[in-house]
Amino acid sequence: MNKLVIDGGVPIRGELTVQGAKNAVLPILAATVIANDECIIHNCPALRDVEKTDIILERLGCTLKRESGTLTVDSSCVSGCRIDEKLMREMRSSIIFLGAILAACGRAEVGMPGGCPIGMRPIDLHLKALKKMGVDVSEEHGYLKCECAAIKGCDIHLDFPSVGATENIMLAAVKAQGTTVITNAAREPEIYDLACFLNMAGARIRGAGSSVIVIDGVERLHGVEYRIMPDRIVAQTYLIAAMMTGGEMHLKDAEAAHMRAALSALSEMGADIRIGKREVDIRSTGKINSIHILRTMPYPGFPTDIQSPFMALAAIADGTSVFVENIFENRFRHVGELSRMGADIKVEGRSAVVRGVKQLCGANVEACELRGGAALVLAALAAEGRSTVSGTEYIDRGYEDIEGRLALCGARIRRVWV
Ligand code: UD1
Repeated sequence: MNKLVIDGGVPIRGELTVQGAKNAVLPILAATVIANDECIIHNCPALRDVEKTDIILERLGCTLKRESGTLTVDSSCVSGCRIDEKLMREMRSSIIFLGAILAACGRAEVGMPGGCPIGMRPIDLHLKALKKMGVDVSEEHGYLKCECAAIKGCDIHLDFPSVGATENIMLAAVKAQGTTVITNAAREPEIYDLACFLNMAGARIRGAGSSVIVIDGVERLHGVEYRIMPDRIVAQTYLIAAMMTGGEMHLKDAEAAHMRAALSALSEMGADIRIGKREVDIRSTGKINSIHILRTMPYPGFPTDIQSPFMALAAIADGTSVFVENIFENRFRHVGELSRMGADIKVEGRSAVVRGVKQLCGANVEACELRGGAALVLAALAAEGRSTVSGTEYIDRGYEDIEGRLALCGARIRRVWV
């Protein structure tokens, strides 16, 4: 077990290159299974969730080779179509393998997925869509069993623009008979990245990034060399770190077009932001304004994944901010820990009222999910005195070497093993 020890109050200043996006690399790695060939993935971040995905790929019969940020996956010998319960429980996004394995093997058997404890996270939309595509789905002893003679293209309307369901349908549809049309599809940039990967591998997908995606089934895919898009949530986390500590940051490989909602909120809260070609600069003006109301929404709305880091920022703003969480029902678990550091936050159902305080104070706190953990690190960077953040296994799911990156920008942060 380890924890982060942070001595707060030091301005975060410097330059960082944004890591590859977790939420793009996971479905793309699942998609390599369908290629039945060698895929070379660049800008692949070293994350716990990627390590788990690597294990799943190996159990399915793929051969993997990693050289720093490049992962080569050879799926020409895929032999398995089963992912055991233990692996599935460790990572919610493992459900994406369902569509990929079905496309590759025509059947799949996977344990029910797990993930961060931020809500119920059902998979009814995934299963309803697969059934419509001709897949027989049954559940036995905690396992989902899926089988079909052939996956059939069809029209699928999603009741909610679920990211995972959209990706699963795309993966199942690439080699289906006929055309699949997804309406009310999720529009996240990571969906577009997955479509780009699949199209380079021979798929025929149009409209990804919009709410209507059309997939014409093809006979087969082939190997491809692909670079993962930058992680917009990690980029935003580092921008907030600079703003909360009165510092400044130059982010390289940052796609501002993917971060419009958060950049606009940061400007409203007083940051000086400059946008360049694949780069973003932020400079603190010494003032942090409260934000009137911040509502999480599907993309291009305000991302639920950056809600908790923004709450850490609002905790030291001048005035009162209101947060409304519309995506996950249990995504205020960081509030208790921020309060231990002196934040004044009241939660009522899906809303939180944050009254800014002059100064947070260092405390021993515990991360209990990925983004909430990042919020605690941010609060600790801005707090007076020493904090320890445990539960680093959650933070490591999505942030590559968080202490190394922040230390490069002047943070007094280190990891200690206990
Ligand atoms: C993905 C992201 C996660 C992000 C989330 C929302 C990955 C690996 N994870 O998660 O970081 O926070 O999108 O932007 O990309 N829902 C249902 N039934 C379903 C599927 C979803 O009711 O079958 C509900 C969920 O409970 C949740 C909402 O829809 O309330 C959004 O979920 P979804 O978009 O599917 O998120 P994930 O794909 O799990």
